[in-house]
Amino acid sequence: MKNPDYIKSMFNNLAKSYDFFNRIISLGTQTFVKKQSLKLLSISNGAKILDVCTGTGDLTFYMQKLNPNTNITGVDFSEKMLEIANKKKNNNKNIKFYLADARALPFEENSFDIVTVGFGLRNIENYELVIDEIQRVLKPRGQFLNLDFSCDDGFFNSVFDLLTQIFTAFTNKKTNYTYLIESKKEFLNSSELISLFRQKNWIFLKRKYFSFKVIAAEFFRNNKK
Ligand SMILES: C[S@@+](CC[C@H](N)C(=O)[O-])C[C@H]1O[C@@H](n2cnc3c(N)ncnc32)[C@H](O)[C@@H]1O
Repeated sequence: MKNPDYIKSMFNNLAKSYDFFNRIISLGTQTFVKKQSLKLLSISNGAKILDVCTGTGDLTFYMQKLNPNTNITGVDFSEKMLEIANKKKNNNKNIKFYLADARALPFEENSFDIVTVGFGLRNIENYELVIDEIQRVLKPRGQFLNLDFSCDDGFFNSVFDLLTQIFTAFTNKKTNYTYLIESKKEFLNSSELISLFRQKNWIFLKRKYFSFKVIAAEFFRNNKK
């Protein structure tokens, strides 16, 4: 199910309605959650930031608003998602979007002060490869934010899945949202993810839950020398 070609074509198909459905399914909370979690990063003037799996660029644009004096690069492997991101970008010269696979990032070692991934890792079969790539391109002591569903078995997670099924029952994107529910079941939960990062020489800084623990933001520091 997590075949990269399948995932890419799914997001290419979803691109036009992605922002709209996201707002609906999250009952409008996703914007809040994204902005609040980004506020917990320390984004200094001139920071070079990479947003992996940027999609339509939500995290990228919110970060630019938080600190306009930054250079942000967004990468994604779906052309159609990036098309929307590029439309939203207008002429902003501090933002660049590139078509690239998160498993082989086209950047040199130690290129970025901050890396973010929003709702991305869960979609990638070899997510460990992505974590290693992020560690490679992130400077020593650089910050990493992973924002995603907590993938816990909690009550509110089941409520969320039910709401997702109801909202999408009448759309032609039903398969895509069935995938969303399945991908949450298959992926590591937030605590397991934190353990994995620790094993991979990252310092765990903090975790912030949102939306009754349905969503979790985990913050790490790159511990490589
Ligand atoms: C759920 S969207 C998240 C978009 C955005 N970060 C947000 O928070 O709204 C996941 C994105 O990950 C991208 N993606 C999945 N696998 C990828 C890979 N191997 N390399 C690059 N992008 C990938 C998809 O194309 C999609 O745009």
